[in-house]
Amino acid sequence: MKPNTTQTYKAIFPASLKKKLSQRQEEGTLRILKLNDSQLIDFSSNDYLGFSKNQFISEFALDKINEYSSELHGATGSRLLAGNYDMIEDFEFYLEQYYNTEAATVFNSGYDANLGLISAIAQRQDLILYDELSHASIRDGIALGKAKAYKFQHNDLIDLEQKLAKFKDQFETTYVITEHVFSMDGDSANVDTLVRLCDKYGVFLILDEAHSVGTISKKGCIDFDGKLFARIITFGKSFGSHGAAVLGSEELKQYLINFAKSFIYTTAPSVETTARNWAAHLYLESNSKEFEALRLNIKYFQEQIKTHNLSEFFIESLSAIQSCVIGGNEKVKSISRQLQQEGFDVRPILSPTVPKGKERLRFCLHSFNSEKEIKMLLTSLATYLIQNEND
Ligand SMILES: Cc1ncc(COP(=O)(O)O)c(C=O)c1O
Repeated sequence: MKPNTTQTYKAIFPASLKKKLSQRQEEGTLRILKLNDSQLIDFSSNDYLGFSKNQFISEFALDKINEYSSELHGATGSRLLAGNYDMIEDFEFYLEQYYNTEAATVFNSGYDANLGLISAIAQRQDLILYDELSHASIRDGIALGKAKAYKFQHNDLIDLEQKLAKFKDQFETTYVITEHVFSMDGDSANVDTLVRLCDKYGVFLILDEAHSVGTISKKGCIDFDGKLFARIITFGKSFGSHGAAVLGSEELKQYLINFAKSFIYTTAPSVETTARNWAAHLYLESNSKEFEALRLNIKYFQEQIKTHNLSEFFIESLSAIQSCVIGGNEKVKSISRQLQQEGFDVRPILSPTVPKGKERLRFCLHSFNSEKEIKMLLTSLATYLIQNEND
């Protein structure tokens, strides 16, 4: 909360930027920060398993810090300078076993991981084919890189194959980038078929697992044959913390350490963050209670969609993200406001975050939501949707 001051402070700000803000205001798309209201029932956070509040994880994390008897709190520098410490190396070794991969490289966030990985690998003579609904961090990584890039239609492997065939032998290296579970739609890529397709054309697959680990399965997709070039796992969603790792070969790790700018030119994660991320993994590895509760809630939510005849609004999804496409920023904002007044933390997802006409309510399900809450939520949603159609 900002303190009240008697003195007014007037900071300078360019007119050109002011104009952009005014435009957003006029279009009703101005983003503002709101404090999280902990009184509301959480249908919006990425804390799918409730790990951000899990006391066992807090205790495990403290144990880890004590085990390493570290005096460090901050990492004190980049991993390549003073910021490499034994706990972070041991955590990476743990991640390699947990995700059955040759090498894991920790980044400060999923955004940093995608940005660093993709911009570093994308050379001038290369091609990137990426799903049109890929996350901003993937698109920004592509924009920073030097490769030629084309979108393929969302989850459309026929379109992808046509593009792979069209560009065959025209580029030195081709990468296909997609998400396992899509952050805005909640639907999933068909990873098995994708792996086969990439194998057939001899191209490299990168899979963002931000929303799949801990929701679809405890480890995301299982890459037993080492067919994936890279997987990106994040610690800010199911693990309730912060950070990410790129999984892949030992050579990929060496490459990232040498060329990924968001790894090189930044301070490494703090000891506390690493301890928490490790503790959250250890907890998930040995406990299935939260994961199973989440799976049951996803199933129940889908049953309730059918009971309330809401299927036409929802994008089919087996994940913790269930999107109800309504269309129109004002409509979506109005229904989310009504749901919030009833005590549900439900956020509108507006254009330009999603394309115009695809504005939606994005429900994030959790292990700790109750069936009663889900039923009440969908009953109210059905009422407001009908009201809205009649308005
Ligand atoms: C698919 C996807 N990838 C990457 C990220 C970025 O992860 P982080 O929040 O750790 O920066 C997100 C975050 O929303 C995401 O949805």
